[in-house]
Amino acid sequence: MKNMTCIEDLRQAARRRVPRAFYEYADGGSYAEQTLNANRKDLEGINLRQRVLVDVSNRSTATTILGEPVSLPLALAPIGLCGMQHGDGEILACRAAHAAGIPFTLSTMSICSIEDVAASVDKPFWFQLYVMKDRGFVRSLIERAAAVKCSALVLTVDLQILGQRHRDIKNGMTVPPQWRLGNIVDMASKPLWLLSVARGKRRTFGNIAGHVRGMENFNSLSHWIAGQFDETLSWKDVEWIADQWQGKLILKGILDVDDARMAAKTGAAALVVSNHGGRQLDGAPSSIAALPPIVEAVGSSIEILFDGGIRSGQDVMRAIALGARACLSGRAYVYGLGAGGQAGVTRAIEIIRNELDVSMALTGVKSIGEIDRRVIAN
Ligand code: GLV
Repeated sequence: MKNMTCIEDLRQAARRRVPRAFYEYADGGSYAEQTLNANRKDLEGINLRQRVLVDVSNRSTATTILGEPVSLPLALAPIGLCGMQHGDGEILACRAAHAAGIPFTLSTMSICSIEDVAASVDKPFWFQLYVMKDRGFVRSLIERAAAVKCSALVLTVDLQILGQRHRDIKNGMTVPPQWRLGNIVDMASKPLWLLSVARGKRRTFGNIAGHVRGMENFNSLSHWIAGQFDETLSWKDVEWIADQWQGKLILKGILDVDDARMAAKTGAAALVVSNHGGRQLDGAPSSIAALPPIVEAVGSSIEILFDGGIRSGQDVMRAIALGARACLSGRAYVYGLGAGGQAGVTRAIEIIRNELDVSMALTGVKSIGEIDRRVIAN
């Protein structure tokens, strides 16, 4: 892993090791991928302000998220199907996050179940929830997350219908999944991946299989999930969720100031400024463009987290400078997972930590609390 010097190295390694359908599921965005690309382009367009001759010894990247100490202003974002990037992917990523002193978010659409992960790690993790049509099932997911003492519930609010991902359709990542000859040949040509997935606990949606009657195989599960997107989803449902969940609630997927104002009124502990990694409304602004007005409107009443395009410590610094408390990162660690399992996720976090630390030194700041617009050059 030492030769992996940046997230792009991990991405290239993941591209070689993971079957194309799963690699592109994580890597891609919706439609023309304009928003996916804007997330990166707009972050890269923010120049940092070099300062010199400032004593920057004794720096620290430590801070708090939702009042909990973290070693770095970063949490691993919820990503579906991590266990298809590497066997037991969710468990490995959670272990790497915890060892690094940052939160891990388990997706509803994970391969390892809530209980699998809880039994394999010794600290609480966050759980991401979709509100599905079957509210009884949603309630049972919340109860299961509470039973294993998940420390926050991350409610995804931007996916009541799925943005089309052209790459997924072309790769047969559809409902039901298409087991084309090309996919099978591709998988067969990735022996390390095959071995890790064969050794993993599961190869289907662990939170759902065995918990919904008759839903055991991948085909019936994918059909069930596709029928569960709920177009009626509204702020009333957020209230309902808040009533069911006694712990900290995070609303993920806010991109508009008016929605941020509504979110701040729900009593949620935090919101995540996010366009779902450019996977939903193509043509929506980049997350970093959406961040400052949201911070200005509600930053004093709700904690503001950020995701969308984070590939480096410099990016984390940019988001914090514009008012985020911390960032979530999905693809960066998923590339690490595909490239090398737990060691790859550890490497991804280390890369971002080192880059943030050096960027702090070179912009003349010693603590996360000191990062503000003064570190921005333009
Ligand atoms: C699900 O959240 C996805 O973006 O695929």
